[in-house]
Amino acid sequence: MKMNVISYSLTGNNDRLAHSLAELLGAEHVRITELKERTIKRTAFDMLFNRNPEVEYHGNMERHNGAVIFVGPVWMGGVASPFRDCFKKLRKPGGPYAFVSISGGADGPNPKLAGELKKRLRREPAAVVDMHIVDLLPAEPKPTRDDTGNYQITEEEGRALAKRAAASLGEILQVGPTAGEGQSEGGHHVFR
Ligand SMILES: Cc1cc2nc3c(=O)[nH]c(=O)nc-3n(C[C@H](O)[C@H](O)[C@H](O)COP(=O)(O)O)c2cc1C
Repeated sequence: MKMNVISYSLTGNNDRLAHSLAELLGAEHVRITELKERTIKRTAFDMLFNRNPEVEYHGNMERHNGAVIFVGPVWMGGVASPFRDCFKKLRKPGGPYAFVSISGGADGPNPKLAGELKKRLRREPAAVVDMHIVDLLPAEPKPTRDDTGNYQITEEEGRALAKRAAASLGEILQVGPTAGEGQSEGGHHVFR
């Protein structure tokens, strides 16, 4: 199946993951960057007022009916706002898609991701793979938001997370090594 990995990353974690995942799956990798500087204030405004920041694409965004795997951070419980432009571009009709993230996880999982994706892309995600930095850190003392927010994954951790994601996606999208044992939640698979 033809496949694109489309990624956005502010501090590098999801870039590392996306790079390894694209390599592992033999997928075309398209990177999203922003035209304006990203600040905490802009992030809060984007998330609160549903703003759609200007972005540019690095790589081949040509449409196809294969699978699209979005890789990027979770912000305030939602998908990072720089994906919004491309979600609009890739609305129905289209092939299956999944969202993969290495997010902080200090406050637990991010249960609203699948609902938001469905709303923005007008169809259910085949899978949501929400992996957490908190699981890479010692359990005690309990990691805080600052601990997870400041953590930079290593290239090795990026490769290990990509393998985990590829295994979860394998069964669902018929790509990469097969493993996936996620829970089915309302038509899509959720892996944590
Ligand atoms: C403004 C902001 C809000 C965030 N909100 C969440 C959140 O709701 N849930 C979560 O698990 N992680 C949250 N995080 C943590 C990021 O998802 C995490 O640090 C991620 O690895 C950053 O990815 P990047 O390096 O690719 O930008 C937030 C980070 C920022 C900067």
